[in-house]
Formats: sequence, C-alpha cells, structure tokens
Amino acid sequence: MNLNLPIGIFDSGVGGLTVYRALHERLPAERFVYLGDTARVPYGTKSLSTVERYGIENAKFLEAQGIKLLVVACNTASALALPAIGNAVDIQVVGVIEPGARAAVEIARGKTIAVIATEATVQSGAYAKAINQIDPHTKVIERACPLFVPLAEEGWANSAVARSVAEQYLQNLREADLGALVLGCTHYPILRDLIGEVIGTDVPLIDSGEATAEEVRSLLESKQLRASQTTRELEERRLCDDLDHFYVTDAAERFAKVAERFLGTAPSVLEAVEVWGHDELRTY
Ligand code: DGL
Repeated sequence: MNLNLPIGIFDSGVGGLTVYRALHERLPAERFVYLGDTARVPYGTKSLSTVERYGIENAKFLEAQGIKLLVVACNTASALALPAIGNAVDIQVVGVIEPGARAAVEIARGKTIAVIATEATVQSGAYAKAINQIDPHTKVIERACPLFVPLAEEGWANSAVARSVAEQYLQNLREADLGALVLGCTHYPILRDLIGEVIGTDVPLIDSGEATAEEVRSLLESKQLRASQTTRELEERRLCDDLDHFYVTDAAERFAKVAERFLGTAPSVLEAVEVWGHDELRTY
C-alpha cells in the first residue's frame, strides 16, 4: 500500500466538509479526495436500498481514484449502508456512527445519551444499537432535526429562526438529565454553539466527525499508513488547497459557495462528475 495515497471521503453533499475539516486538522500530512453527491442529496429522507445503492456507487468512484482508506462522512449512509459499502470495495471503510457512539458512552458515564440526526438515521436506530452494544444499560433518546440542514447551508446558524427551531426540537430533551448529546448529522456542527446554548452548556456535545477523525488517526498509526511529508510541506498545507481534490455530482458553484460558508475557503480543485450509470466514469 502506498502511504501517500489520499484518504477518500464521501457525503451526500456539502455537510461532510465538517468531517473533512476535522480530518485535515488532525492529519495535516494527508491528502484527501472528497465526493459530495449533490445531485442526489438529501439522503436523510430516503430508503435503505436507495442509500445503499448511492453509497456503493460513491465508494466505487472513490476507490477508482486510488485511495488508501474510505471515510463515509455521511451519518445517514453510515447508519444504513456501511456493511453494503464495505462488501463492495476492497479498501478499509470507516463510518461515523461507531466512533460517535464510543465517544458519547465514554463521556456520558451511564447517563442518558441523546442523538439528533436525520429522519433515516433516527429510523435506523443505528446510534442506539452502537451505544447499547458498548453499554447495554445506557438509555438513548433519538430525535430527527431535519430543518437544521437547510439552516446550516443557508448560513443562518446564528439567526432567530434557527434558535426558535432548535428550541422546538430540543425542548423535551432539556428535561432529560443528559450525559451527552450526539450531533449525528454532518451539518449540525455548524450549529454547535446554538445547540449548546439551547440544550444547556453543561451537556457535552459529541461531534461524530471529530470522533471519527481521531479514530482514523489511530487506525493509520496502528497500520503504519500515515503519509510522509516534510515539515516545510506541512507548514504550507491549508484547507482546500490544491493537494485535496473535490468532486460533486451536480451544482459545483453552489457547493463552492456553501463550502466557503462552512470552511471559510472554497476548494481549489473542484470537478463535477457522474458516478452512476456508466461503465466508464465521465467528467465534464
Ligand atoms: N449528510 C447527511 C447526514 O449526515 C445530512 C444531509 C442529508 O440528508 O443528506 O446524515
């Protein structure tokens, strides 16, 4: 295995950039190839078989680019399709559910854990299963918060509208004596401050993307797969520079605009591709 191959990341769209940022911060020597399936977003309202199909197509596209590891940044795809994706490709695949669950159990120490996510993630019960596999006695409350996704993309994270939506969604979670609240959707870290204020600053917030980035770091270390770069090269790395490649399946301009909102910078290398329905991948 070539250590200097990039790490592949895919998401249903732009939200997975929060996971890209967490990975980039912890692993500045690594290069990344990101695929945002902007033509077929959202995944959070779709069925298991559809999300599996999309996930497999995305994973195969990234595998064909030459990557050493695949991170499924999308919580919905991780919750519904991780086994199917793992069976479809030959590289190691890491999802965001288990790392998020492990971090929550560690911090909650037996108290109730709340998970906020898309409708499909909540319906799958994937977080509750992962948490109860580690600690069968921990109570888990899951709540779908679909409006957080457009609010984050619109740049309204700090608006009165977002606060009122958060108050409505989180109202009865405030009454539970929570040991942790899992941000179980790629977009929710953008609303982290607001969610923290509304749920109460004493409740630890778990960002599944950050927990996953920690896990990817230890995995690369244990498998001796970390990229080698000189100190000088490392110092010059910045988010979205031309060593990281970004692909979308539609609407590249909108992706660049929202990326700038999420990361403070837009990708230097951004290309639109089709990842389905072709024997040969076509770029345009
Ligand atoms: N990326 C999705 C997730 O983390 C949120 C957006 C969508 O519904 O596709 O679940």
